[in-house]
Amino acid sequence: MMEKLLIEGGAPLAGSVGISGSKNSSLPILAATLLTDEPCVIRRVPDVSDTHYMLGILRAMGAAVDRASGTVTVQAATLTSSEAPYDLVRKMRASVCVLGPLIARLRKATVSLPGGCVIGDRPIDLHLRGFEKLGAGIRVEGGNVIVEAPELTGREVNLRGKHGSTVLGTDNIMMAATLAEGTTIIDGAAAEPEVVDLAEFLIKMGAKIEGAGTPRIVIHGVKKLGGADHTVIADRIEAGTFLVIGALAGRREGIVLKRTRPDHLECVIGVLRRCGHEIEISGDEMRVRPGTTSRGSNIETESYPGFPTDMQAQMAALFCLTPGISVITETIFPQRFMYAAELNRMGADIRLEGSTAVVQGVERLSGAPVMASDLRASAALVLAALRAEGKTEINRVYHIDRGYEMLDEKLMNLGARIERCQA
Ligand code: EPZ
Repeated sequence: MMEKLLIEGGAPLAGSVGISGSKNSSLPILAATLLTDEPCVIRRVPDVSDTHYMLGILRAMGAAVDRASGTVTVQAATLTSSEAPYDLVRKMRASVCVLGPLIARLRKATVSLPGGCVIGDRPIDLHLRGFEKLGAGIRVEGGNVIVEAPELTGREVNLRGKHGSTVLGTDNIMMAATLAEGTTIIDGAAAEPEVVDLAEFLIKMGAKIEGAGTPRIVIHGVKKLGGADHTVIADRIEAGTFLVIGALAGRREGIVLKRTRPDHLECVIGVLRRCGHEIEISGDEMRVRPGTTSRGSNIETESYPGFPTDMQAQMAALFCLTPGISVITETIFPQRFMYAAELNRMGADIRLEGSTAVVQGVERLSGAPVMASDLRASAALVLAALRAEGKTEINRVYHIDRGYEMLDEKLMNLGARIERCQA
């Protein structure tokens, strides 16, 4: 059933909000449970549709899955299939991260080739290059990639592509290498906190991994991995989104974010402070207060620890209502600006020039019917709606539900006026 959100803008927000476990950590960690026949317990898995898709995929491979609120137990005693089903893969590109575990355990995996998606062309050539290096043969047949590796041997693998490294590619090769013969060295590895979280889980399972969080990861293959119990890290993008919400629509006393990892958000915090907003950090809590005078900024997305591509749409919403000109350059997914036309329908002034968005601040936005196009673009529309005059109707809310746990409830608790109804 299609749903939409109706947001009545202008309510100043205050109070506190609990940040959920990371979606982008949960997905590869859930996939990694396929590496062992023993039970694994994963805690703080956010209740969002992407994690449900992933559990569906694990079940389709023969794993027993149990979910009780945020705690998921998976046991893949025997894997009955090496094929990720098309209808699930089609819905979620991140399903490619079952490739690594399947190859490691079954020496074979079939996954449908992900097509383009709304944030642009998203190839998996670097993943495949890595598997090939470890000794796999790769064929494309009927829209599927079939990876077969009778032997997996540790090698040097370079994962640097033209847009930098690859997060899920690093995850995939790291997972496959845990059960390979000998030592694998990943050069140009992604250093995102989600990669580190996955490495920590794999180490608990018995893997031998050094250097996660740096561009060079060394994996010494082991014969077998066992079950483990792991709590995923706080979602840095959800936390970043609430920081921007506080800057954009917070009352003077601000919003408090609980259970966060401020160390994963240094770049975003730096940009918000430069724009004049106040952020106080105390342990795992952050309080954000809107600045009395604020100014724009120029940002360029980069891999971690640079400014995350998953935060630029939300920043654009903030810049729309910030005096002066701000410039956003997207270097990871150059086409990730589907939100611009929608924000302009609300009265924003965003001009696109290739992979750059030039945002001229305006005095006010006004509510309008708009369409969500991907997860972070949808978040940008929600943010703009919180400050727009009148009612904004956001269609295709399922994009938000893919990655934000209970966003409407969390916002309502802060004082926002939001209603969810059938489209
Ligand atoms: C992860 O996607 C995240 N997804 C994305 O979050 C995030 O935007 C992205 O990393 C970048 O930080 C998950 O963790 C589930 P990449 P991933 O491979 O790993 C190119 C969200 O909103 N590339 O690091 O798929 C690619 O086209 C989502 O939560 C190749 O050229 O991204 C891009 O330009 C969206 N060949 C760049 O590398 C490849 O084989 C980085 O992509 C793989 C990637």
